[in-house]
Amino acid sequence: MKFFIDTANLDQIREAYDLGVLDGVTTNPSLMAKEGIKGKNNILKHYVDICNIARGGDVSAEVIATDFDGIIKEGEELAELHPQIVVKVPMIKEGVKAIRYFSQKGIKTNCTLVFSAGQALLAAKAGATYVSPFIGRLDDISTDGLDLIEQIVHIYRTYGYDTQVLAASIRHTLHIIKCAELGADVATCPLQPILDLLKHPLTDSGLAKFLADASKTKTK
Ligand code: G3P
Repeated sequence: MKFFIDTANLDQIREAYDLGVLDGVTTNPSLMAKEGIKGKNNILKHYVDICNIARGGDVSAEVIATDFDGIIKEGEELAELHPQIVVKVPMIKEGVKAIRYFSQKGIKTNCTLVFSAGQALLAAKAGATYVSPFIGRLDDISTDGLDLIEQIVHIYRTYGYDTQVLAASIRHTLHIIKCAELGADVATCPLQPILDLLKHPLTDSGLAKFLADASKTKTK
């Protein structure tokens, strides 16, 4: 399973990349706003900065337009920024039409704000490169987001769709582990859940014992 980091924060992307486990980056308008980036040129430059840190990894940059012509205009501009850019498009009627257009032009897409298997089916049929089902936001309304991942993976495997399941809105390590068990292609997570995968008390106590015993073998 590929690990993407879900942030526009350059330091966090750098930390995840330096860990050696980063396969890509996803952003969204809220994550970009959180970084305080203002103005079109600064936003476009920030996407290029992200690509240059996450060398070789796909970087999702989301369009703001919700009409077909606007999505196409923005998406083509984003795609021209850098070969690693993936155009992120919301699961709306105009978005599905735009994904089909981008797919025919060889522009990679990530269909976002997906909350049902039906929406995921449309994204695959439109030729999306990735589909982003939001696990955490379904959990937030007492629905098991992982059930959606299981549903989509089953449907995609049944029909051999090329669209990759990019599990999104991940809140903690169990989401990551369950997505791997269910066969998601990608999990996109904030930095902390990725780092939390490192944690186990038996590792800590075991290392402490090894180091304590090793110190006994040292000569003065
Ligand atoms: O960036 C898409 C998705 O991962 C955002 O999820 O629920 O943490 O805002 P959320």
